[in-house]
Amino acid sequence: MAGWTLITGASEGLGAEFARLAAAEGRNLILTARSEDKLRALAEALRGCAGEIAVIPADLADPAGAQHLWQKAAIGRRIEILVNNAGLGRHGAFGNGEGWDRELATITVNMTALSLLMKMAIPHMRAERGGHILNVASTAAFMPGPNMAVYHASKAYVLSLTEAVAEELRGTDVHVCALCPGATQTSFFDAADMHGITLLSLARPASAEAVARAGWHAMKAGHRLHVTGAMNKLFAFAPRLTPRGLTTFITAKVMGKQGR
Ligand SMILES: NC(=O)c1ccc[n+]([C@@H]2O[C@H](COP(=O)([O-])OP(=O)(O)OC[C@H]3O[C@@H](n4cnc5c(N)ncnc54)[C@H](OP(=O)(O)O)[C@@H]3O)[C@@H](O)[C@H]2O)c1
Repeated sequence: MAGWTLITGASEGLGAEFARLAAAEGRNLILTARSEDKLRALAEALRGCAGEIAVIPADLADPAGAQHLWQKAAIGRRIEILVNNAGLGRHGAFGNGEGWDRELATITVNMTALSLLMKMAIPHMRAERGGHILNVASTAAFMPGPNMAVYHASKAYVLSLTEAVAEELRGTDVHVCALCPGATQTSFFDAADMHGITLLSLARPASAEAVARAGWHAMKAGHRLHVTGAMNKLFAFAPRLTPRGLTTFITAKVMGKQGR
């Protein structure tokens, strides 16, 4: 049975780029997100270069969403690549009492759904011919993030989970990789209300195509962790050398909105 690549958050941004990369290799694709119209438009654009393409709309903020998605995706299919890419965040102080709905969605999509899909995929892949899982984390994983506290905490979880499970899977034919991009040109900043943060004035965000390509190659090479770009590698490494309080103070400045 030919293998399939399941990509969450495939309707735009990094997820759509992962879909283009998988399609260019002639792979069979399962595209999922909430926006069925965007998924169908992408599927149409990729027809002819990809193998078969299935579109399965799913809301991963629904507590049962990931389970239902896996059931629909894996019935009669061998999943050989899982790209756990769907994610969101919210800019704003945690303690101001606002934004819980979006923070709960961040927790559910970024952590619960990602974990459930990985938990389902590993035994499935081990029983078949192995496979690769790419979990999209962030450089946010390396430091607490005042003004994006839940998002940073969720990505620290993704990184820790991925590295731990990768060690459990040492010597098997299932490989798990965490991708840690820095700022990337997608709709993420609009959706998370991040315009005006200092970070965006310090460095030009990378292109989604370049970030996805780097992650895709790291995953296929069997790497456990890939931080994109030299500056992001520095951001990821620096917290090992600085006191945690200082790291958090600097991150608050970088993630804060200018003029406030
Ligand atoms: N952009 C950056 O600077 C950056 C940096 C580091 C890490 N990342 C990570 O990269 C990943 C992709 O983000 P992106 O930058 O490509 O952002 P994006 O353009 O906003 O795309 C987010 C994707 O997640 C999907 N999604 C959001 N909520 C969902 C839900 N409830 N159920 C199912 N799917 C949902 C969206 O599809 P629908 O809206 O159609 O559901 C969309 O396809 C995320 O995990 C993000 O944390 C981004």
